Amino acid sequence: MRNKIVAGNWKMNTTPVEGVALVSEVLDAVKDMELNHKKVVFGVPAVSITSVASIIGDIANVHVASQNISSYDSGAYTGEISATMLEASGATMAIIGHSERREYFGESNQVLATKVDKALGRRITPIYCCGEVLEERKNNTFQTVIKTQVEEGLFHLSMEEMAKVVIAYEPVWAIGTGETASPEQAQEVHAFIRSLVSAKYGNEVADNLSILYGGSMKPSNASELISMVDIDGGLVGGASLNASDFVEIIKAM
Ligand code: 13P
Repeated sequence: MRNKIVAGNWKMNTTPVEGVALVSEVLDAVKDMELNHKKVVFGVPAVSITSVASIIGDIANVHVASQNISSYDSGAYTGEISATMLEASGATMAIIGHSERREYFGESNQVLATKVDKALGRRITPIYCCGEVLEERKNNTFQTVIKTQVEEGLFHLSMEEMAKVVIAYEPVWAIGTGETASPEQAQEVHAFIRSLVSAKYGNEVADNLSILYGGSMKPSNASELISMVDIDGGLVGGASLNASDFVEIIKAM
């Protein structure tokens, strides 16, 4: 049985003190929830990883994720943060290849493939993001775009490695816009991604793969999206910065 996952991506928001307050409020509200086969993830700014990890402690199925990871191991790479450093700070997951990193920081599928390797080289689960821009949706090339992102970023992995990966489908036109992919549109892409993984790695890996939807997920649409057969949770931006909204989305999984 594959895991359902609700992951917040705070992006460049919150100080460490604000972050600890937000996580504490969320955890307090979900502490009695049964999290069997369900995970709650906080994708926090790197400077908050240590303090958020210490609030979470050893609560099962609750994780801290970084929002990026260096493609280098160590050395003269000013400003970079390595997988080893992230792991030592308490991160157990990493968001890799978010469209904002692809667009504003020029991260290619090839660089992202290396970042995935670095995460898996430590005990960090990659949440590998893919998704098309509006023009690609409109001109109906989105499946080709997503196929290339998934193949070039992930398909060098062994079967054992692929079994550890989480994928997030985030249509760029739905991020921060208030516009959401319809459950049917998202389901179609999620099923497509699962079929790609199945063709390469077989049914078992594909069936166990958690594929999250991201793009204006909020309390009012979360349960409908997550109820689709191939949508295993959400990668939540704006709504994850509000404790009660994020809690509602967690409860919808
Ligand atoms: P919003 O939920 O704010 O649209 O952001 C989605 C996202 O980019 C999560 O990674």
